[in-house]
Amino acid sequence: MNNWLIDGVAGDRIAVTDRGFTYGDGLFETIAVREGQLRFLDYHLDRLLNGAEQLNISAPERNLFVAEAGELAKNSDYGTLKIILTRGTGQRGYSPPDQATSSRLLGLLPGVAPARKKYIDGIVVRHCSTSIGRSPATAGLKTLGRLEQVLARAEWKGETITEGLMSTADGYVICGTMSNLFLVRHGALVTPNLATCGINGVMRRVILERAERIGLQWRVEDVLRESLTDADELFVTNSLIGLWPVCRIADRAYPVGAVTRSLMAELTDMGISECAGL
Ligand SMILES: Cc1ncc(COP(=O)(O)O)c(C=O)c1O
Repeated sequence: MNNWLIDGVAGDRIAVTDRGFTYGDGLFETIAVREGQLRFLDYHLDRLLNGAEQLNISAPERNLFVAEAGELAKNSDYGTLKIILTRGTGQRGYSPPDQATSSRLLGLLPGVAPARKKYIDGIVVRHCSTSIGRSPATAGLKTLGRLEQVLARAEWKGETITEGLMSTADGYVICGTMSNLFLVRHGALVTPNLATCGINGVMRRVILERAERIGLQWRVEDVLRESLTDADELFVTNSLIGLWPVCRIADRAYPVGAVTRSLMAELTDMGISECAGL
């Protein structure tokens, strides 16, 4: 069965001249599908379409994405819907074509629920030696070129470590290889500043909006890697997992604390059932 729609047509091939392939000239989204529903689809489309506008990629109407994504997801109990939007095909050379027609790819991929233990006990995290480059022109966007994350994720194998943290060359921690990072300090939520690099995660937005709503103090900050040892609680988020507490980085253990637990309860309340009952 073909689970991809390319510009609305079933298929699994793109042109070798597509700029998404040749230059990573495009954006993507990875959306949790649960019981036929696309979780936070609106937030994903906000990021995708705002990103397209910022990069001057001509995007189709929002409703087209909604219709195609819904069609692909409707019979899936548990999976991942991927959307890729590229600037389209072009001649050799970086210069964007004057009349580019974007390429739109949507695919439904099977998924397996993460182990409950990760939600209950938390995950072990490491610091990656691959640094994340500052790129203010694309900071916050989920752009296609993810080579730094690929290199960082290749730094370890096995199941003991679940996630790796990425920092800038001058020592500021930004994110995980596939997640956003949160710290709890003296009862307040802190998350790294993404003004110059990192992805402005959908789940990060969900958490910050909820924190605001429940009156939990939060702030965005430049976070020195060394300062993580002073955090009271740590957790990572993304659209597919929801939230995982961090229980250890190297020899520093962290409790799965009250703020993390209360945010997991809030996520449960919003239908992220993975975080339930903890
Ligand atoms: C580098 C990076 N940062 C953050 C995130 C979290 O983004 P979201 O919450 O939109 O899934 C991801 C998700 O894959 C990621 O790869």
